[in-house]
Amino acid sequence: MEFQFGTNWAVFSKYAGGVIGQTLAMEGTFAFFLESAFIGLFLFGEKRLGQKLHWLAAFLLFVGTWLSGWFIIATNAWMQHPVGYEVAADGSVQLTSFWALVLNHWAIYQYMHNMGGAVVVGAFAVSALGAFYILSKRKVEYGQMFMKVGVVVGCIASIWMLFPSGDRQGKMIAEHQPVTLAAMEGLFDTKDGAPLVLIGQPDMEKQRLDNAIHIPNMLSFITYQRWDAKVRGLNEFPKEDHPTNVPLLYYSFHIMVGLGTMFIAIMSIAAFWLWRGWLFSANWLLWILMLSFPLPFVANTVGWAVAELGRQPWLVYGLFRTEHGHSPLVSGGNVLFTLLGFAGMYTILSLLYIFLMLRRIDQGADELGEGMQAEAN
Ligand code: HEM
Repeated sequence: MEFQFGTNWAVFSKYAGGVIGQTLAMEGTFAFFLESAFIGLFLFGEKRLGQKLHWLAAFLLFVGTWLSGWFIIATNAWMQHPVGYEVAADGSVQLTSFWALVLNHWAIYQYMHNMGGAVVVGAFAVSALGAFYILSKRKVEYGQMFMKVGVVVGCIASIWMLFPSGDRQGKMIAEHQPVTLAAMEGLFDTKDGAPLVLIGQPDMEKQRLDNAIHIPNMLSFITYQRWDAKVRGLNEFPKEDHPTNVPLLYYSFHIMVGLGTMFIAIMSIAAFWLWRGWLFSANWLLWILMLSFPLPFVANTVGWAVAELGRQPWLVYGLFRTEHGHSPLVSGGNVLFTLLGFAGMYTILSLLYIFLMLRRIDQGADELGEGMQAEAN
């Protein structure tokens, strides 16, 4: 992605490099190197390092990945809500406060939500693996251990996605990007006591929501804590400032929140069943936990679609439009070609990853441990 800033977004890089160059470079130097060095030690160094140093490698790997997450989110947060900059004589932006950039309040809430999303993925994957071991009656002890950790963490993390992190993100958008909020909610006309839409299809031609099912006054309440608060609709903003693909933004947002609600329901039931001692024999629930592991990947992807589609038509919100940022010499066809190339490469890597993961799952921790022990002896 960092290369793409230079190749496909040259005008944007020239405009904003003086600000985002900071966080991108820090991501590359501190976090990425820390991350890649320690993942190597973590995966291959167990025998040589011994337990304590191996634990330390795991911890530093965690620090590296979460630090790299911070710097990349701070970069994106600046594009969503620019702070700590001044406009230079040549029209580009230059950083005036490093701390304003890295401690942007948008970044704080975005980071809380984004990293929470990663924890949800991990928790669902661990509990799915636990459910698989218990259901297939192999390595049942490990299965129960995975299940306990996955369900407890999954329950806390799923609630965290709604409150406080998702709620804070929503409030920030209401304050700084009100037109985005209107598009996310499919609200065409300004309303006192605006409803929260559960389902419905935005009809862009007729400027209305078809077949809507909604909770009256709820959007006003969750946004402004008043049942009759005014929420501004899309039609109140100039057309050129509307997000460029309102239906996709609306659907992405509703899929994310719908899945988030489902995660809370699944994990709360599982946590209650675990507490009562019923979980390990409740096959129906184990099947649900096992099969739902891909869903958090979907939620994260649509979540990012919400953040990026919601920022349109701006690259840097309110300052610099997307249509002005691309490299003039790179055509749409070139971009599509390289995108397909990357998609192909990632498909191959994903297949390889799935193959290796399935092999590891099949071997299980016990046999892996025994294998290593034998090699060590
Ligand atoms: C349960 C209710 C949820 C609410 C109210 C909520 C709210 C939001 C909002 C308002 C945004 C847009 C931020 C922006 O435009 O910058 C967002 C983005 C995002 N959401 Fe959610 N979300 C929820 C659930 C989830 C879940 C379950 C996941 C994943 C497991 C998720 C992952 C993401 C990601 C990755 C982003 C983009 C990065 C970011 O801005 O943090 N969300 N969410």
